Amino acid sequence: MRAVDIIIKKKQGLVLTEQEIHFMIDGFVKGIIPDYQISALLMAICFKGLNEEERFHLTKEMLESGEQIDLSAVNGLCVDKHSTGGVGDKTTLVVAPIIASFGLKMAKMSGRGLGHTGGTLDKLESIPGFNINVSSKDFFKQVNEIGIAVVGQTANITPADKKLYALRDVTGTVESVGLIAGSIMSKKLASGAKNILLDVKVGDGAFMKTLEDAQELAKAMVNIGTKFGRKVVAMLTDMDQPLGEAVGNSIEVIEAIETLKGKGPKDFVDLCYRICAEMLIISNVCKNQEEAFKQIKEKIDSGEALNKLRLMIEYQHGNSNVIDDYSLFGTAKEEIIVSAKESGYVKKIHTESIGIAAMILGAGRSTMEDIIDPTVGIKALAKKGDYLNVGDPIAIVYTNGKNTQQAINMLYQSYELSNELVKKSDIILDVIGE
Ligand code: URA
Repeated sequence: MRAVDIIIKKKQGLVLTEQEIHFMIDGFVKGIIPDYQISALLMAICFKGLNEEERFHLTKEMLESGEQIDLSAVNGLCVDKHSTGGVGDKTTLVVAPIIASFGLKMAKMSGRGLGHTGGTLDKLESIPGFNINVSSKDFFKQVNEIGIAVVGQTANITPADKKLYALRDVTGTVESVGLIAGSIMSKKLASGAKNILLDVKVGDGAFMKTLEDAQELAKAMVNIGTKFGRKVVAMLTDMDQPLGEAVGNSIEVIEAIETLKGKGPKDFVDLCYRICAEMLIISNVCKNQEEAFKQIKEKIDSGEALNKLRLMIEYQHGNSNVIDDYSLFGTAKEEIIVSAKESGYVKKIHTESIGIAAMILGAGRSTMEDIIDPTVGIKALAKKGDYLNVGDPIAIVYTNGKNTQQAINMLYQSYELSNELVKKSDIILDVIGE
């Protein structure tokens, strides 16, 4: 077999065999096939695509390139959720405790934020003392004892994906449904859970800008998961405005805690309920959405869900008193209210710009080496369809002085107003794999 023949075959739009995919990926991981040949193959894939079988073989190859987490040591059914990333996405911090309060196990490995989207690990690290580097022995012990752990990677999973992703990033080959689906699903499959809920974000603040593209990606991922014997449901959810209000680290954790106390922003509460309901239904805990909603509300009203978060913080050496005293997070030096300069209905929100504005204040990273300031960020108060009078607050900026004016200017430019009534949209746009 020769790499060049496989590249030409894909360039001609032909279907690659399992052996050919193995030859290329395995050769790449072992350093036998050089970057320039893999780059050419990736570009050919971007133009010609991968069919279902090819996507399956690519995912399998990436999955088998590294360690796979064996969750059989966990007593109970392990469920997982994954978001493709958005602005203000603190869903895991609410969904994981709720799901654990039903006796299901959330043994979750999360990631860090990059660019305009935040990462769950960075948010958790805004809790004083919170440790995300947990040994696999302690990880299993914690999941068995309290049903919930959210940690950084405990094993070397999918090294092929790491190497491929780095190459895709610099060769303009990230945007290919087959490559994205394989990349995300190989990691999810390696993490071991039987039931997986995918939250595919759609819109200005998301990776997938249109509903059609997101549907195609969601179908590809559900299909791959099913072929590997997992139950997978993908929810397509709106990212044409920040999720909830808070965009930052400690302010997002506070919003998540408020939500577990029954006081979260409506769009965020709706999303958490819908995601939890879907997870409970695919795990045969609840029969339908109505039953699930009722029971989720009981878990919140009784404090059981919040108690799961408290326990997780304690097990991972964080100060759980933050739940009752938010001042323990520390605060930014200044809070600046950004007010409307004209009146009208909020027609469009440039969500990615809000994510970038929060990033330049210090809430996120433009490179993996940047250091995060946990206390800064933005509260995006105005929602699509809201009517604003001159002087009404659009957002609050929490700053320690870094790029403050630039962030404020970006916020002004992020909101488009109209004199015509703008309809509010549902946060769930589609569900695939039910
Ligand atoms: N996230 C991933 O993990 N992989 C991709 O290819 C794109 C987004």
